Amino acid sequence: MTIGARADLSRNESRADAMPDWRAMLDVMATRHSTRAFDGSVIDDATLADIVRDGTEAPSSCNQQNWHFIVVTDGDAKRLAHDISGGNAHFSDCSALIYLCFQKGWTHGNFSVVQSVAAAAYHMMISAHLRGFQSIWNAGIGDQVRLRHMLALPQTFDVIGALAIGRARPDAPAMKAPRRPTQEVYSFGQFARPANAVYPAKPAASYPFFRIRNDNNPWAEWNPARWSLAQLADFRGYSVWAKSPLSGVYVSRRQGAATQAELALLPDLPAGAAVAELLPWGGTYTVELRRRLGPGVTLHVDDLSDNNLSFVRERLRQEGLASDLTRFARIDAGRLPHDNASLDAVIAPQVLEHLPDPQAMLDEIARVLKPGGLLVVSARNLWSAYGWVWATRESRAPVPNQGPFRPIPAPRLRGWLAARFTIEADTGIGRGASGDATPSTGPHKTLSRLYAARCRLG
Ligand SMILES: Cc1cc2nc3c(=O)[nH]c(=O)nc-3n(C[C@H](O)[C@H](O)[C@H](O)COP(=O)(O)O)c2cc1C
Repeated sequence: MTIGARADLSRNESRADAMPDWRAMLDVMATRHSTRAFDGSVIDDATLADIVRDGTEAPSSCNQQNWHFIVVTDGDAKRLAHDISGGNAHFSDCSALIYLCFQKGWTHGNFSVVQSVAAAAYHMMISAHLRGFQSIWNAGIGDQVRLRHMLALPQTFDVIGALAIGRARPDAPAMKAPRRPTQEVYSFGQFARPANAVYPAKPAASYPFFRIRNDNNPWAEWNPARWSLAQLADFRGYSVWAKSPLSGVYVSRRQGAATQAELALLPDLPAGAAVAELLPWGGTYTVELRRRLGPGVTLHVDDLSDNNLSFVRERLRQEGLASDLTRFARIDAGRLPHDNASLDAVIAPQVLEHLPDPQAMLDEIARVLKPGGLLVVSARNLWSAYGWVWATRESRAPVPNQGPFRPIPAPRLRGWLAARFTIEADTGIGRGASGDATPSTGPHKTLSRLYAARCRLG
């Protein structure tokens, strides 16, 4: 752009003269979406430099432009960045990482320097997008000390994020995370926001920003009974998109082993059977369940939010498990989307502890099961080494993306189940607070990390 063109654009008149199709341009910008699976191809240095230069058209606090961008393209360096990040595969598969840095000590009020870096970062993403590349912004970049060493970053600078830019792998999900209805996120004159989009915090006169840390939020409200179903649906339905619905996402080694132990309670079901899985969030369990169920068994996936259902649907496709016999439906107002006595089995893995009224959900499950139908259920156990860690450490942190939960004492859950069903088999899973999924059927079963049971109606 020439100096003259800049002068033209500084006048307070419609941009339509300069660019008649500005609406079309905004629409193209709005098609940008994060990509977390790149093909590893090269983008030349000149193009990357152009993208950074575009980013520096962004405004900055006091015009100090105290930002600095470190472009990393070398394969070994990207692999190291991947390792430091703690497993972001897209850090090694992308064409370039652009680390977002700033000099400390100036324009700190209201994080102005951070706001400035953010403005430039988004401008670079748009530049990359318009050039036909894909990108992803990451605050999750890993250990600061190792990064400082890798980037030779002086102590006067900090690094707060990285853009990964490249070309999407052909099979990468071409999906944009859902946006809230716009009227939810703005108001004229004074604050106004619908109740479902404001999340509970423990009551307090004020919530000083600097008292809230990633490992300690004194006001985190982990009790789902203090959340409405609409708030839970809202929170989980957006935060599941913190990652793309790629195969293998949201899988931990510990949970993988526990899932197998939970699923071992489910007998083989005949073709024609109908099964519902409740509240799958990111679909980690759904994937294992769909693999295990026979091809003739219908799997109903029921969640509080349509956003989660679209995530799980795409994830199953990514895992090669798309099937006409997998159906998706929303749970409205706590009511399962099934007729009375219509299902052969219900699977509720680590779900009840996320609900405001777990017993109401058990009543619903009893309503939709056929006589003789099965419930396979598990819950995190408060009376376990894990429960102790949860109570003393984990629950001090901010509420996780799966939503608030409170582990349930295993004997209490067993009592709830026995009041409605016949418990055919039950087991404890995991002796330690984490790291193992050892099954226990003896006296340890109500002291394990998870308590799981197979129950029959009637
Ligand atoms: C400041 C910031 C930090 C982010 N950090 C991460 C991250 O560490 N890991 C990740 O996978 N995505 C990260 N994202 C990407 C968001 O999850 C993503 O932008 C959001 O889900 C909206 O999706 P969209 O970019 O497709 O519109 C970050 C985004 C922003 C703006």
